Amino acid sequence: MTEILTADPTGIAHAAELLRAGVLVAFGTETVYGLGADATDTRAVAAIFAAKDRPHFNPLICHYADAEAAFAQVAANPTARLLAGALWPGPLSLVLPRRADCPVALLAGAGLDTLAVRVPAHATALALLRAVGRPVAAPSANRSGQISPTTARHVLDGLAGRIAAVLDSGPCPVGVESTVLDLCGARPLLLRPGGVTVEAIEALVGPVGRGIPHTVAEAARTLRSPGLLVSHYAPDAPVRLDADAVRADEALLAFGPKLQGAGAEFQLSASSDLAEAAANLFIGLRALDAQVARLKLSAIAVMPVPEHGLGLAINDRLRRAAAPRAGAG
Ligand code: TXA
Ligand code: MG
Repeated sequence: MTEILTADPTGIAHAAELLRAGVLVAFGTETVYGLGADATDTRAVAAIFAAKDRPHFNPLICHYADAEAAFAQVAANPTARLLAGALWPGPLSLVLPRRADCPVALLAGAGLDTLAVRVPAHATALALLRAVGRPVAAPSANRSGQISPTTARHVLDGLAGRIAAVLDSGPCPVGVESTVLDLCGARPLLLRPGGVTVEAIEALVGPVGRGIPHTVAEAARTLRSPGLLVSHYAPDAPVRLDADAVRADEALLAFGPKLQGAGAEFQLSASSDLAEAAANLFIGLRALDAQVARLKLSAIAVMPVPEHGLGLAINDRLRRAAAPRAGAG
């Protein structure tokens, strides 16, 4: 049985005890629910991969209560300090070299000499991290290849019976995962668009590499971020992008003034607000996936979302949801 813990001091203390004892606890962050384990405990980290059925080569993000705790374990450069000062706590993960004495299990970083670290902007998550007093490795709390959970209910849908507890802090306000930024090379490299926009990062530190790598070293860094598996955020139903019309046998994921005639629909944001759409994205995909199965529809049709700001992260997740299904994600 998976225990549901209330996000009050008692629940948080209990969740911290469980984590310190080496078992798995899912907890809410501002982005999505994470499946947490004591990052310094290799067996606990291994249990994450088992619970998720996740390929072992995928490195995990380590969560800290503050930048000081994070930078004691990875080597921060001036760019990292500047970004952390401005954007932490927040939905930004920084990939930096592990320090020689870094206590995080190698398995958490999939054997890489770098580690993705972040400080979540979420009161319950921060209280939990302070109570644990150790880095907490946490991928999104879903089975591998499935949609990231943004409520405790979603966590249980995928992981009930496989984890000790979920700390229920309500729906996640941001709704898409953190931006992953590699700071190990000459210029920052975007490995995954997410909750902090590239525009916000570039306003602070100048140009960020994305898309086509400039150098062989950058290509290598991009390739070894295997979270970039193309088919990753996959509902069961086929997903059709950039719909400018919708059929009665399709479920519509709408953005802004909606198309008429769908067999089912979910509105990401009636007012075309990208932050609202991001917060609703995974809830909408899950809801429509269930409708497609229940009403025997053929696909989820997705209206276009603009490719700027948080739209970058939303479109990235939607393209993965629509990609031909590979093995694992
Ligand atoms: O918002 C989030 O980031 C959530 C919450 C729980 O914090 N976590 C999350 O973790 O989305 P996960 O494991 O689902 O995604 C981690 C991403 C993957 O794309 C992974 O490949 C990349 O970060 N990553 C982690 N460590 C890395 C490293 N050392 N080098 C390159 N990429 C790394
Ligand atoms: Mg994930």
